[in-house]
Amino acid sequence: MRVTFNANGRPVEADDVWEGESLLFMLRERLGLPGSKNACEQGECGSCTVYLDGAPVCSCLVAAGQVQDREVRTVEGLADDENGLDPVQQAFIDAGAVQCGFCTPGLLVQTHDLLEREPQPSDNDIREALSGNLCRCTGYEKIMDAVRLASARKCSGNSSEVSR
Ligand code: FES
Ligand code: FES
Repeated sequence: MRVTFNANGRPVEADDVWEGESLLFMLRERLGLPGSKNACEQGECGSCTVYLDGAPVCSCLVAAGQVQDREVRTVEGLADDENGLDPVQQAFIDAGAVQCGFCTPGLLVQTHDLLEREPQPSDNDIREALSGNLCRCTGYEKIMDAVRLASARKCSGNSSEVSR
């Protein structure tokens, strides 16, 4: 079947999609959007998180056909040509919150969503929001630092100031 939808602000279509195919597979293998990662393919790790109509979802659990005529935003779509990286992406780099990077795309989308809803989250808010995103490398402290940094910058209006 053919699936037509909007990905990162652009109309796209994928052909020969089979009925059991996931949104994650379609994004990575058919549409050249490999940012979302496949770490478990069963909704356990959050590395495949994307926005679907503005809400974060595990793209490995969404059938490709379900996104017909809908809006998908992936980690690639957080950055834009005019402004470069999103402040959340920059904060993860500056805080040293990326090691192997497999979990990072999902954490970025989930953090982006959290800060849209709650610009000044408490540590408990952060832990709860990211509870579905597993990281095998960092021990999570650098990730917490990155979210706090992104929040501080968002509230100060400075997307690149490094807090020390
Ligand atoms: S790959 Fe989708 S939740 Fe792990
Ligand atoms: S940085 Fe490797 S899984 Fe998180």
